Amino acid sequence: MLTLGIESSCDDTAAAVLKDNNNLLSNIISSQDEIHSRFGGVVPELASRQHLESINPIIEEALYRADKSLIDIDLIAVTQGPGLIGSLLVGFSYAKALSYSSNIPIVGVDHMSGHLLSAFLEKDKPQFPYIALIVSGGTTSIFLCQNHTKFKLLGRTRDDAAGEAFDKVAKLLNLDYPGGPSVSIHAERGDPTSFQFPRAWLEADSLDFSFSGLKTAVLNKCNEFRQKNIPVPVGDICSSFQEAVVEVLVKKTLLAADLHGIKTIVLGGGVSANKHLRKHMDMSCRKKKLQLHVPHPSLCTDNAAMIALSGYYKYITAEEKTSYNADVFSRSILG
Ligand code: KG4
Repeated sequence: MLTLGIESSCDDTAAAVLKDNNNLLSNIISSQDEIHSRFGGVVPELASRQHLESINPIIEEALYRADKSLIDIDLIAVTQGPGLIGSLLVGFSYAKALSYSSNIPIVGVDHMSGHLLSAFLEKDKPQFPYIALIVSGGTTSIFLCQNHTKFKLLGRTRDDAAGEAFDKVAKLLNLDYPGGPSVSIHAERGDPTSFQFPRAWLEADSLDFSFSGLKTAVLNKCNEFRQKNIPVPVGDICSSFQEAVVEVLVKKTLLAADLHGIKTIVLGGGVSANKHLRKHMDMSCRKKKLQLHVPHPSLCTDNAAMIALSGYYKYITAEEKTSYNADVFSRSILG
């Protein structure tokens, strides 16, 4: 079975061709980082306009690289939400039109379910049930994954997502966009113990997150230096900030595993490209004898391969087609 995956929820236009449930024939992504970098964040209107420009060539390229044409495709899986409405509409409308004109069934996919399953695109596949930590620019959530279509939301951020906090800290330090990679590069030459930034643990055993207080603490610390005309120690600030984020992410994920008696952890989302997070999660999992699965960074960030996979399972388990009357949605419906 060949699935064409289409993703356009935020600022990446992506298409992939997946054979059955694990043979990825192509995975093409067109990033808009260059367009949004001078604004220090994604500008929704520019994002949707760029999706319009990119979607046709990206899908053609995905088919070409897979050495397939549209008549070979058995299923179209497309991100239906969550994300920016204008961006989602481009991919979703395109997919509906393609489905209608080519008589190929279409399945709308929750972007989060793609992240939750992306580890299955690797050789070494996780065993159910597992705890997944999904950390990106738009979300920071912990899920209990019971099978390929059954996911339970255990906790999520009450304000900023972890990636958003990285992006905002980068902006206030005048670092390049996207902020995560810039902050982590500067953090490498800083001391993580220089500043004791706050960790929001929230209530006992809470699996929710909050990063807005941490971001404000970083801003206040920078202002202290600026008011005294002392150069801001960028490396130390980045390193101490990153340490605070990573400590909370790792401890809450392990707490989730402990509370639910789970032995396998999966990481996903753009922030899981962070080396410090990977290292700490790995060390902590080893100590607790937990299996850790971290997909390749290209499968952690927004991509269409995971959308194809999630759509495949949705379709084969429930033969669930999406109606042409269906609309996109801005918030995740998983949980
Ligand atoms: O999943 P993703 O590609 O897409 C969206 O959420 O749209 O995640 C992007 C996020 C951005 O906030 C970016 O700053 C962050 O992931 N990110 C990182 C790193 N690489 C990307 N954050 C921390 N460390 C990194 N190395």
